[in-house]
Amino acid sequence: MIDGKKVLFSGMQATGSLTLGNYLGALKNWVTLSGEYECFYCVVDMHSITIRQDPATLRKRARALLALYIAAGLDPKKNCIYYQSHVSGHAELAWILNCYTYMGELNRMTQFKDKSAKHADNINAGLYTYPVLMAADILLYQADVVPVGVDQMQHLELTRNIAERFNKLYGDVFTIPEVYLGKVGAKIMSLQDPTRKMSKSDENPNGSIYLMDDPDTVMRKCKKAVTDSEGCFCYRPEQPGLKNLIDIYSVCTGQTPADTVAEFEGKGYGEFKVAVGEAVISVLKPLQAEVAKLEKDKAYLDAAIKENAEKAQYYATKTLRKVQRKVGFPDRIR
Ligand code: TRP
Repeated sequence: MIDGKKVLFSGMQATGSLTLGNYLGALKNWVTLSGEYECFYCVVDMHSITIRQDPATLRKRARALLALYIAAGLDPKKNCIYYQSHVSGHAELAWILNCYTYMGELNRMTQFKDKSAKHADNINAGLYTYPVLMAADILLYQADVVPVGVDQMQHLELTRNIAERFNKLYGDVFTIPEVYLGKVGAKIMSLQDPTRKMSKSDENPNGSIYLMDDPDTVMRKCKKAVTDSEGCFCYRPEQPGLKNLIDIYSVCTGQTPADTVAEFEGKGYGEFKVAVGEAVISVLKPLQAEVAKLEKDKAYLDAAIKENAEKAQYYATKTLRKVQRKVGFPDRIR
């Protein structure tokens, strides 16, 4: 609890270009939650280097992601928006937690297995202990809730286990975080393969709408989206391509899928795809304008980065000192 409010922590990686799926499925929800909780929204740049990165690109993308958080509507005066690498406590707590995490637990992480298969030439120890750094992120701020996608559930479960193990040994040190799963219907699928999630690492660029895509590109991708030959304007799993487009249209226009079906019943897919394109463009345009504005206002962004890093550091240090004391590190001489 901070000032009587429950604490929320979440983070995103700055690798790859963010997609409409990241925005509608995650970022937009974060904005909704931001009034209700004391929020920490982190750009997890330390996680990013578990896969080889070009330094200049990583730096640029991390800043763009932070600007995007703000552009999406997260006020940096009310939400702690910061870079993981600016707060040394993440690495320090991660080290300690490493000593309370079993290799057997890490061996079971499906994301580690997937990523090591994908990057077989660079299976580094950081990739292996990635979930422990994530646990440190969350526990450092005594987070009550963590909004994540289903793909991160296993990591969150591990976080809870580590926290419970630690608490059992040393008393009530960590808050046990709960997962906060986003509303159903916000999961956006690939436009080319609607059985898979829209992903920033999709090899087929037509499958994903990127947040920085220009209107022509958005429209082209929507028109090319895979549908079916059923010719029925229905919202059902048997027509995953159409269902996904209905979801996108509904979230972008703020109506329910049933409203959308009623609006387009009897109309052709072609006409609907154009409407989807327009709805997406109307969401992305103001977002892109806001990002451009922020990227020009260096002083404002820098001030927000500095203030929030200090704020995060304050809360992180509080937890870290407590943990260091519990495990037996000598007190600091003041
Ligand atoms: N691993 C998360 C992802 O790839 C990102 C992340 C890092 C995170 N630390 C976190 C999410 C802490 C929630 C809480 O999506």
